[in-house]
Amino acid sequence: MSKICLCLTAKTIKRNLEILNKYRKYTDITELRVDCLDPDERLYIRRFPELAGIPVILTIRRDIDGGYFTGGEGARVKLLANGLAYANVDSRFNFAYVDIEEDFDVPSLEEAARTFGTRIIRSCHKLDGITEDISAKINSMQRAGDEIVKLAVAVKTSNEVLQVLRAAKNCTIQDKIMVCMGHYGIYSRILAERFGSFLTYSSALSESEIAGAPGQMDVCELSELYRFRKITDKTKIYGIVGNPLKSSVSPWFFNTVFSLENTNAVYVPFPATSVSDILDIAEKLEVQGLSITVPYKEAVLQRLVKRSPIVQFIGACNTVNYSKDGWIGDNTDCIGFSSSLLDFIGKKNLKYQKITIIGAGGVAHAVASEVHRLGGKALILNRTAHKARKLASNYNFRWGGLPQNGGDSQGIDLISKYNDIIIQTTSVGMEGYEISDPLDLYTFSGKEVVMDLIYTPAVTPFLRRAMAAGCRTINGYDMVIRQACQQYVRFIGGEIPQKLLSQLNSMGETAWNKIRSA
Ligand code: ATR
Repeated sequence: MSKICLCLTAKTIKRNLEILNKYRKYTDITELRVDCLDPDERLYIRRFPELAGIPVILTIRRDIDGGYFTGGEGARVKLLANGLAYANVDSRFNFAYVDIEEDFDVPSLEEAARTFGTRIIRSCHKLDGITEDISAKINSMQRAGDEIVKLAVAVKTSNEVLQVLRAAKNCTIQDKIMVCMGHYGIYSRILAERFGSFLTYSSALSESEIAGAPGQMDVCELSELYRFRKITDKTKIYGIVGNPLKSSVSPWFFNTVFSLENTNAVYVPFPATSVSDILDIAEKLEVQGLSITVPYKEAVLQRLVKRSPIVQFIGACNTVNYSKDGWIGDNTDCIGFSSSLLDFIGKKNLKYQKITIIGAGGVAHAVASEVHRLGGKALILNRTAHKARKLASNYNFRWGGLPQNGGDSQGIDLISKYNDIIIQTTSVGMEGYEISDPLDLYTFSGKEVVMDLIYTPAVTPFLRRAMAAGCRTINGYDMVIRQACQQYVRFIGGEIPQKLLSQLNSMGETAWNKIRSA
């Protein structure tokens, strides 16, 4: 089973020990990053394994490999030798592992390490992404049978993750560490087991001044939210695909449900530069089901072998399940949206309601179809006016451009006739996107019901303006939870028990926000 390695990057031994002691319960192995220590402190590294009391990796990462050591190679070899010197017959008092690079060539030091049971981690850091055949690379790195090989690639695309995963699957070496560094490789750290990794590196992010490596996860999040130690080859994997995917509530929601129900499953963020590559990755990882979010709800259609009637009808998909024939698509935004809005306004349908929908993307397709199904009349406004026209034509709705983006002003003039309810479906105002107000030319009268489907932040500039004008407002949190409950049914095959749902609702937005800000 893959182990959790806590990477220690403090400036002093004492501080590193404090951090280790605080997070010891989550830690199987710890890595002393000597390159992060103050120069004076480096003199005392030899005692660290004894003080730590758990297996320690000795690492002096060079700046060219993404570390902080800028001294010459001679000074580094000397420091490594100091760390491995005076080996104790009781191996617990020695470093359990030493990380040395594939181009490191000091046989006497390696020999000394082996003699006293210190295992060599033979590492290769590719900070410029994949520039060569990494499968061949990983298979050629090991110099002796007991070495652990480590390949860490700074990935900038989902395709690079796919290549690392392929290399991992083709690699016959028993003990290896495969890491995709950076935002797009985050799931390689959570699913280290499926990447065939001996360990996953993590940090105590709230305590550390400097990161061990880009994309390293917080050790508490890894252990408590993703229940890393419970992930085995039997664990069912679900997740969410999107970009940039920095602020989705779904990982919190699903993992909390799995944990409360004691289900052997995990829900993982899959930030993606290509939905097709990510589905290839998901197949290799044996993922069972995925939520699909911005901007892939339409792009994913091309990979579906089967579409539910609703997906077929609206042309957008936010839920996929894997079957033996391929991916099957469904949409839970529709029911999530309409049940949230109807409950909020206390009505059973939208008859006689004149509604403005801002946006014409994936989620707007779901919103428009529900407004139509429930008897509402709508105006659709979008930055790219022809998309608004196309969507509106399905339902005989009116349409227009968003004026501030160079569209015509026809849209704004029409809002006053469609302002019982205004629904904002674009990504404008969402964390990670442009923080502005997509409707800043419109003045709220205060009588409109205003729904913004964004929930991070809880109040967007658009919603804030509506609140200030006295409108009744609701953000997208309630909708996202409702649609997630429907996804749960499609993933797991049964509903979330009511008792559990009440428990989750009482934890609600506050608990999730607490996790986000931690
Ligand atoms: P989703 O699945 O959440 O609907 P999407 O399909 O990518 O995501 O759609 C994003 C929506 O936000 C679109 O309506 C998009 O407008 P365009 O069709 O003109 O691209 C809208 N949007 C994104 N950025 C915007 C911006 N800066 N100003 C106005 N609208 C924007």
